[in-house]
Amino acid sequence: TKKMILDLDTGVDDALALAYAIADPNIDLIGVVASYGNNLLEQTAKNSLQLLELLGQDVPVFKGLSHSSTTDHFTVMQVSKEIHGNNGIGDISLPEPRHQVQTKDGVDFIIEAAHQYSKDLIVVPTGPLTNLAAALHRDPQISRLIGNVTLMGGALTVEGNVSEVAEANINQDAEAANEVFTSQLPITMVGLDVTLRTLLTKKETQQWRNLGTPAGIAYAELTDFYIDAYYRLGIDKHGCAIHDPLAVGVAIDPSFVTTLALPMKVITSEHNYARTIGDKMRLNEPHPNVKVAINVNQERFVPVFMNHLTNLLAN
Ligand code: BDR
Ligand code: CA
Repeated sequence: TKKMILDLDTGVDDALALAYAIADPNIDLIGVVASYGNNLLEQTAKNSLQLLELLGQDVPVFKGLSHSSTTDHFTVMQVSKEIHGNNGIGDISLPEPRHQVQTKDGVDFIIEAAHQYSKDLIVVPTGPLTNLAAALHRDPQISRLIGNVTLMGGALTVEGNVSEVAEANINQDAEAANEVFTSQLPITMVGLDVTLRTLLTKKETQQWRNLGTPAGIAYAELTDFYIDAYYRLGIDKHGCAIHDPLAVGVAIDPSFVTTLALPMKVITSEHNYARTIGDKMRLNEPHPNVKVAINVNQERFVPVFMNHLTNLLAN
């Protein structure tokens, strides 16, 4: 088993990624770091606590940073509320969390885990890369320690989802993303190239509802909100993309995707802000640190994801 840290901006697909990481016996989820993104930091941290309690798990939740270092505060985008609900988890209501977030800071938690577990540690960010960039700043050594960073973000061969070129997570903090991509961290980029091809429909969520458990019903409800939003906004007529779960899947089983090894950078100038693109100045480097997922075996991935979630939500 691999030690995993999830760095979540807990929205709906993050909630699905969280359940998947708990359900897969090959993953030892050692902690959840909260990021701003789909909602405010306070809210995403609360969502993770509530979901963990719903799923009967005792995984520590740490708070990361509340905004990018290029801004002094963060406000939730209207479209995020439309896709993930006002509370980030499809406007379902869950009991107030009994547990608190940890007092240790989320960025320090990543650094300490990197030293403790080094190559056995996988970090899976499914929100902005602000926390990971801050960890690199505080302790540059971690770029040589961490086994892999498998992140959901970016787009290389397809258009963006917040602009023609930008994907939402990268767009929240392109400066941080550029620091992460151009570091020595071994990275797998699970971007829109592949995540838009992994769809979940109401046929699947109905199976969870039919389980009749609180967790099954809650997960069916929050995912249906997201599927309805995809329909309303004309993103997809049948289902929703399970972006963040695919990053968890690839982290533990890279054979779900085929990748292209490239030195990558992120554009931080106003024109093409947050575009993820190959770095032509470094194309001759012998060992590019980023593997960009460009194809996915969705026929295999979606059923594997479903099996894990259905087993977990049944209890
Ligand atoms: C990404 O943006 C967020 O809204 C989702 O949770 C996902 O991580 C998709 O672009
Ligand atoms: Ca996310």
